[in-house]
Amino acid sequence: MRVLVTGGAGFIGRAVVRALLARGDDVVVLDAHTYAAHPQALRALGELELVEGDVADAAVVFALFARVRPELVLHLAAESHVDRAIADAAPFVRTNVTGSWNVARAACQVEARLVQVSTDEVYGDREGRPASVEGDPVVPTNVYAATKACGDAMVQALARTDGLNAVITRGVNTYGPGQFPEKLLPLAARRWLAGEPAPLYGDGLQVRHWLHVDDHAAGILAAAASGAGGVVHLGSADRLSNRELLAAWRSALGLPPGGLEPVDDRPGHDRAYALDDTASRERLGWTPRIRLNDGLASTAGWLRANPGFWDEALARPEVADWFRSWYEGRR
Ligand code: TYD
Repeated sequence: MRVLVTGGAGFIGRAVVRALLARGDDVVVLDAHTYAAHPQALRALGELELVEGDVADAAVVFALFARVRPELVLHLAAESHVDRAIADAAPFVRTNVTGSWNVARAACQVEARLVQVSTDEVYGDREGRPASVEGDPVVPTNVYAATKACGDAMVQALARTDGLNAVITRGVNTYGPGQFPEKLLPLAARRWLAGEPAPLYGDGLQVRHWLHVDDHAAGILAAAASGAGGVVHLGSADRLSNRELLAAWRSALGLPPGGLEPVDDRPGHDRAYALDDTASRERLGWTPRIRLNDGLASTAGWLRANPGFWDEALARPEVADWFRSWYEGRR
């Protein structure tokens, strides 16, 4: 199958591309090579076409879709870090809203099936509320989640008015080898391996589900193959607080308990996400295979074997500046 993957050089994107190449698909990647992309690691996965370009640039998107004529489009290009969205929403609106709009229209034009990869965060803070089920209204509570909900709404609208063949996947927090160290687990590990404590926002009792990146990628491909429309959920049986997660992570890294530095909480920090994926698992014939402790152990092994994986990106002045101001602002 001829598959176009947006954001294929990103964390989940690379796992998706690896799975596509393993089953012999023809893969074209459109990726803007932002700070969180790793094009070299993508290229190392095998033979594919990599086009550097921005999904928010309609001319780039339409020309590429017209040339490639993909049968399937997996749209993963996104800005995804909540703290960055709070500091500056503009790139999130550009990529997650305008970008999704362009990709959806172009997929419609070439009559490709589209998988819009989204997040459980669109359902907002679930503390004291039941787990979200497919079809629940979205109530985003931060700018990142708001822009993802907006992109999803564009896709749903085009499915209804123009017959776009689309499914939206909403996944839980994802972890695994090669995640950019602005997210909780790789950031904490980097600090610890440098002999520093990891910043813990607020009381650390916020709760999330955690899904291994390879299981997330398998869920995206299952959603693509299923022919399902509407929304599907990609959840996990592993749900725990940040404190519990970091304790398990330290143990996977062979470190003793501790290593936390309480810092100011994230503004408007969502206390809990909770996703019910019972119906989607049935519908997709998909279930996560990697339990958290095994996934943390293999991720720890990968980290030890690849300590310099993000050095080049982290040395970029704009990235180093962001980390400095973010960390100083919290202490
Ligand atoms: P994150 O990886 O940013 O994902 P999300 O906010 O999308 O769930 O953060 C996961 C949780 O960890 C979230 O509750 C915020 C918290 N957190 C910390 O306590 N310290 C950190 O340094 C980071 C990056 C996150």
